[in-house]
Amino acid sequence: MSSESFENLSYEDRTFLPSQTFIDNANAKSDIYKEADTDRLAFWEKQANRLHWNQKWNQVVDWQLPFAKWFIGGKLNASYNCLDRHVIEGRGDRVAFYFEGEPGDTQTITYADLLSKVCKAANALKELGIKQGDRVAIYMPMIPEAAIAMLACARLGAMHSVVFGGFSADSLLSRIQDADASLVITADGGFRKGAPFALKPAVDEALKGETNVKNVLVVKRTGQETKFDTSKDIWWHELVDKQSGKHECEFFDSENGLFILYTSGTTAKPKGVYHTTGGYLTQAAFTHHAVFDLKTEKDIYWCTADIGWITGHSYVVYGPLINGATQLIYEGTPDTPSKGRLFELIEKYKVSILYTAPTLIRTWMKWGDEYPNKSNLSSLRLLGSVGEPINPEAWMWYREVIGKNNCPIVDTWWQTETGAIMISPLPGVTATKPGSAMKALPGISAEVVDDEGKAVGNGRGGYLVLTKPWPSMMRGVWNEPIRYKETYWSRFEGVYFAGDGAKLDKDGAIWLLGRVDDVMNVSGHRISTTEVESALVSHDVIAEAAVVGAKDEMTGQGIVAFVILRGGIESATGDALVKELRDHVAKQIGPIAKPRQIMVVAELPKTRSGKIMRRLLRDVAENRVVGDSTTLADPNVMKLISEGLKTGKSED
Ligand code: WTA
Repeated sequence: MSSESFENLSYEDRTFLPSQTFIDNANAKSDIYKEADTDRLAFWEKQANRLHWNQKWNQVVDWQLPFAKWFIGGKLNASYNCLDRHVIEGRGDRVAFYFEGEPGDTQTITYADLLSKVCKAANALKELGIKQGDRVAIYMPMIPEAAIAMLACARLGAMHSVVFGGFSADSLLSRIQDADASLVITADGGFRKGAPFALKPAVDEALKGETNVKNVLVVKRTGQETKFDTSKDIWWHELVDKQSGKHECEFFDSENGLFILYTSGTTAKPKGVYHTTGGYLTQAAFTHHAVFDLKTEKDIYWCTADIGWITGHSYVVYGPLINGATQLIYEGTPDTPSKGRLFELIEKYKVSILYTAPTLIRTWMKWGDEYPNKSNLSSLRLLGSVGEPINPEAWMWYREVIGKNNCPIVDTWWQTETGAIMISPLPGVTATKPGSAMKALPGISAEVVDDEGKAVGNGRGGYLVLTKPWPSMMRGVWNEPIRYKETYWSRFEGVYFAGDGAKLDKDGAIWLLGRVDDVMNVSGHRISTTEVESALVSHDVIAEAAVVGAKDEMTGQGIVAFVILRGGIESATGDALVKELRDHVAKQIGPIAKPRQIMVVAELPKTRSGKIMRRLLRDVAENRVVGDSTTLADPNVMKLISEGLKTGKSED
């Protein structure tokens, strides 16, 4: 038996330093780590001063493991911090959002416009009876009203619970019930893949269940025919537009609830991750400033995440708006009307900071370089990645083809639960390694530990834990304190266990190895899916790979790989390709990691936020009926994969 919790198989010796100009002008300089180490709480207090407080806190933190409170006694308003402050300080004319709809319609919204729109919406919500502490469900396409609705709730001290617009009526209902929401804000529909899709019917369907929802506020986006029940449905334009654009906000306690966001666990009931105000906003604003190096006067910032995910909450709404950013938001899909759409948008708006996910980067790799190469991407100066481990070759492709070797890459590790970025390079400080999130941010304490909870030391793999409370940490699972303790605070005593495997390389840089539930056990070696996938993706012909451990009489588990080929590349096929790939993995990381079986597929099963669902691939690899696939972005994928295998087309 191996004594390590995870094998450390791959080795990376490429490093990339930021340019001297970048270093000289960076928002965060190298001394910031020392500053935070010297006095962690003083460091966070300093970051909290990025916000406007109507009343200062009298205690920085109260830590009753596992429950934290930050900036106790302080009073603030999230919406005031995002909007009023900029207008009062003379930045009202600055553009907050450039919006581009999928059909090509556009809007330019300044901070002054946004403030007035949010005030109108807040006045409308007030008219509907919404007050501090109430919960409001938001089920919207990626349009400005989604952010406006969130900020209007925050302005009144009510909590939003954003449900991603791709979720079903059932998922919406269970979230409305769990949070006991009294209002739903939605739209008739949105645009996706060149056509309108409807949202309102799913709300109608959900509300057939038992809820305390009194009203449904509906934005008219597509103009499609929409059933209306006048006893509770109200058009946004009829109620909101007529309101006053002024609203004096109240200031709420630092620990006032800001939002609930449900994580879609793959099996269990979704968890309502609960966040409050002062600590969350502090860390969102600090990380957005330090990690993305935002220069408010110059940068055009674009985070491609939907508002329905935590990335959209922290890095489209709260972090960037507090920092006065000018950003782009886009409604649609990356391949409509062409696979070059996002690159055209970068050129059109001169985007300088791009924050996206590995799933999109690998999709771009699969489509081929001709799409990015058609647009002028020279405005870019910083690239970010989030959501999954980024394979070294995808990182290199991002650096070379998108960043033209000119942009630092920040691979940012965090979770819905952590609220804000925890592990990431600082772009003007860190010499990055392709595929590594590098190091805990200043003020954050992370460790990699073994099964017994002991630090593993450099060169070894284990479990990623967070050892000290941080300002933006979740305050609990909504209504389920015991589940909160059991899920996050019981695997190792006194520390937060994130559920991810990680390793420290010989220099102490952190490499994320994927969810521990996905780890494979081959002849007693615990091998991470990420390392084998990265080895496959480092072969020229592979754009994307997913590996799983399938039962094996000889070795306990055998490695089964599903791979997608890169567009426009000539290669061996069939048995010759499979042999070549197996040898490639053996050479890259060792014979123990050689896949038993490799199957070429056209698509991989992914959640709607782009994470590969290995559980379903395990079912295929073990010849089982495929399990619950309701959270898949594309429900047909599993059928295609299973059918492809039956015809024997891609079998080893
Ligand atoms: C994974 C997204 C490797 C990880 C902000 C985590 C990552 C889960 C990275 C949280 C990264 C996120 N490298 N893995 N840079 N970022 N993850 O809640 O498994 O949607 O636990 O939050 O995504 O996903 P969530």
